[in-house]
Amino acid sequence: MEPRKIREGIFWMGAVDWDRRLFDSLIPLPDGTSYNAYLVQGKEKTVLLDTVDPTMTDKLLTQLESVRKLDYLVAHHAEQDHAGSIPHVLQKYPDAKLVTTPKGKEFLVELLHIPPERFITVSDRETISLGGKTLEFIYTPWVHWPETMVTYLREEKILFSCDFFGSHLATTDLYAVDKARTYRAAKRYFAEIMMPFSKIIEKNLEKLKDLQIDIIAPSHGPIHNDPSFIITAYRDWVSGAPKNIVLLPYISMHGSTRKMVDYFTGALVERGVSVQRFDLTVTDLGELAASLIDAATIVLGAPTVLAGAHPAVIHAAHLAAALRPKAKFASIIGSYGWGGKTLEQLASILSPLKLEILQPVLCKGLPREADFKALDNLADTIAQKHRSTTPAGVVNV
Ligand code: FEO
Repeated sequence: MEPRKIREGIFWMGAVDWDRRLFDSLIPLPDGTSYNAYLVQGKEKTVLLDTVDPTMTDKLLTQLESVRKLDYLVAHHAEQDHAGSIPHVLQKYPDAKLVTTPKGKEFLVELLHIPPERFITVSDRETISLGGKTLEFIYTPWVHWPETMVTYLREEKILFSCDFFGSHLATTDLYAVDKARTYRAAKRYFAEIMMPFSKIIEKNLEKLKDLQIDIIAPSHGPIHNDPSFIITAYRDWVSGAPKNIVLLPYISMHGSTRKMVDYFTGALVERGVSVQRFDLTVTDLGELAASLIDAATIVLGAPTVLAGAHPAVIHAAHLAAALRPKAKFASIIGSYGWGGKTLEQLASILSPLKLEILQPVLCKGLPREADFKALDNLADTIAQKHRSTTPAGVVNV
């Protein structure tokens, strides 16, 4: 794709990765992704903000063919999908300086073996003038690595935000015109990599709140020309109260756990609690991660296999523990054949979240009347907990 003009002297560059279906050999990419770089030309100097994934270096270098001189290359973040083509760009422009945070320099020297003499490090809020265009560098650590920063182009009120406010979305839309699609993609992206750092991200949002921002240009997905849309969404994700939702990832081997899950879903709905169910045999883990943002309660539906929880449920529990959602309660339901340590195992995996564990319901084989009664009791408890959670309570959906 050719460079696309955003404003006078400001261009989107980069690559749309339509066919990529996995990131970090872990995160599903149902809609592909993009690696956005941006060229900003002042009266005196020219800067490239970020590069692209090393698999797409040739696309960026083709776009740069008509750019005779590059004075600065800004690295907001040292992860390969933005930094991986830096060595090639520096090779093409031997006089260009690589601008980043001191921590960013440390990472890029260590991870990509970039010579230390190529760097200029900037402090928080430091500026560089391009001639009529001023770049202000703002530290925004832990989005989602410790070295991350953003760049504010003062005269044009554009925030170049790298991963912050981004979405894994391959699209020909330069701007986020399909808001519903962008919201979903941005939400799952936040859940997958930023949710564990919500408290710090909340501080970063606070730090940006006095900037006048017309455009947010992230390094994945479409550009936001309605910044309040994505900023409001982020505020809700990092600091909104958990919602009146039970997240219910489950597996059933012979149908017994599914009977419990079906009954329990109905019992919760009767009590006014929403349920987001995920059959882990077919679940897109990104969707599960996105649901973790909102749910006040996590209930794992786990059959016992070989004396422990089914491995798919163990995986889901580890994912929840790693992503550190704002849920407050948890429980476990499921069926076993002859015994096992399912409860202890799953409770132990979830323990870093410090959730209140509500009375689990495990049954031998097919559930009986007493088991359905226990599921009713668990649904009662959850509905009551959701109503009385302090200080702000949960929010109804
Ligand atoms: Fe898009 Fe953390 O890299």
